[in-house]
Amino acid sequence: MTRAKPVLLIVEDERTALRALKLILEDEGYSVLEAACGEDGLRLALSEQPELILLDIRLPDIDGLTVLQRLRAGHSDAAVIIMTAETSSANAIRATQYGAFDYLSKPIHDEHLLLLIRRALEYRQLEIEVRSLRTGGTSAEAGVPGMVGHTPAMQEVYKTIGRVADSAATVLVTGESGTGKELVANALHQFSGRRGRPLVKVNCAAIPGELLEAELFGHEKGAFTNAVSRRIGRFEQAEGGILFLDEVGDMPLALQAKLLRAVQERTIERLGSNAPIPVDFRLVAATARDLSTAVAEGRFREDLYYRLNVVVIALPPLRDRREDIPLLVQRFLARSERPVTIRQDALDKILNHDWPGNVRELENVITRAVVLAPGGIVTPEVIEFPTLPSATAGARCSFWESQVPYRDGYWAVLRRVESALVKAALREAGGNKTEAARILGVQRRLLYQKMAELGI
Ligand SMILES: Nc1ncnc2c1ncn2[C@@H]1O[C@H](COP(=O)(O)OP(=O)(O)OP(=O)(O)O)[C@@H](O)[C@H]1O
Ligand SMILES: [Mg+2]
Repeated sequence: MTRAKPVLLIVEDERTALRALKLILEDEGYSVLEAACGEDGLRLALSEQPELILLDIRLPDIDGLTVLQRLRAGHSDAAVIIMTAETSSANAIRATQYGAFDYLSKPIHDEHLLLLIRRALEYRQLEIEVRSLRTGGTSAEAGVPGMVGHTPAMQEVYKTIGRVADSAATVLVTGESGTGKELVANALHQFSGRRGRPLVKVNCAAIPGELLEAELFGHEKGAFTNAVSRRIGRFEQAEGGILFLDEVGDMPLALQAKLLRAVQERTIERLGSNAPIPVDFRLVAATARDLSTAVAEGRFREDLYYRLNVVVIALPPLRDRREDIPLLVQRFLARSERPVTIRQDALDKILNHDWPGNVRELENVITRAVVLAPGGIVTPEVIEFPTLPSATAGARCSFWESQVPYRDGYWAVLRRVESALVKAALREAGGNKTEAARILGVQRRLLYQKMAELGI
């Protein structure tokens, strides 16, 4: 709905508070409707379709949360900001769970309120755009990856995704480990015209260099000793779709040159053959490392860097968007089969942590807390942060990198690392393998395989 002035509805029973708010908002150029009780508010919300609703929790007839629920059940897509006199976050969290954009505690700080309103309106606009993108597409809505967060940095991310998803541009996704780089790749795929075609993911850090080449380019039968049959590589598998190169900064230099050629010429050659094969893929790359440093240090090709650096989506570390933490916590709690709530002091403990492993670390901490929560209530005691630098793998791992005993040889070191990973996860999970696999973010099958291999 496009109107000259955004329409705001205030639902508040205290007359003086309502008047004051109305003046401030009108001064700011909004058109303001008012309601003194919940039922009136609901009626106005549905008949006038305001862009945004400021909703008091305590109202004379029905409480704000009930209003919110009924709004969501009815036909209103207004952004809702809850105003509450209580400091308890339980209501606030429930409010965000019912779809409120944010909440403010009274007394209301005008500047903060105005900022929040601007943000909520922008966010709502974006949601509407994304929704129309979705319904315009063919894919099922259920598959759309849910990214949580409404801080300005995240809004930038959504906007960029919206802007570039449908283009052919190469996208570079940057951000520390666990910030959601893969989610962005998923979203780009979902919102692009290539959504009906494959999204092929390759983790360049997980595959040793010499295997990575065959993985990407494929090979002909007899191309090397173990090549007993022809194998189609990832470039060809991604035909018509998107190739996601995760941890692209870890790709060996020689291979970078081949990648550059594939990107420029849109043809590849399988190993053991020199027949060029045309390939149609869109490239999305991700890195937790700073590629410009890698270029300066000669570990990454400058020409490839410029090729990848066309559109950059930079994901903020979680500690720089703490306002999103309550929403994320709520999202992760909601995954539990039994109803679980969180106590304020536990939430405070979470808010004060630095989150070096970002959203993934938060997800793991909550998943574990849910399992341990006494009586379905998360208390500070069940919030435990990993002590190993495991959660800081990737960009923030320089200690480990400088100490790595490379002289012991590649496979020996890998085995030790794998063994330490599996053992630590099993220990933390109290021996529960499903839980250990979840902590490590791997399939249970892989965990079993590794345990067998390593004799654990
Ligand atoms: N904004 C978000 N909202 C909800 N969940 C998120 C968000 N960002 C990340 N996650 C979750 O955190 C986990 C890590 O996300 P993802 O794998 O996309 O991060 P990453 O940046 O690729 O990490 P890494 O560098 O370690 O591979 C996933 O389980 C993902 O669902
Ligand atoms: Mg990743």
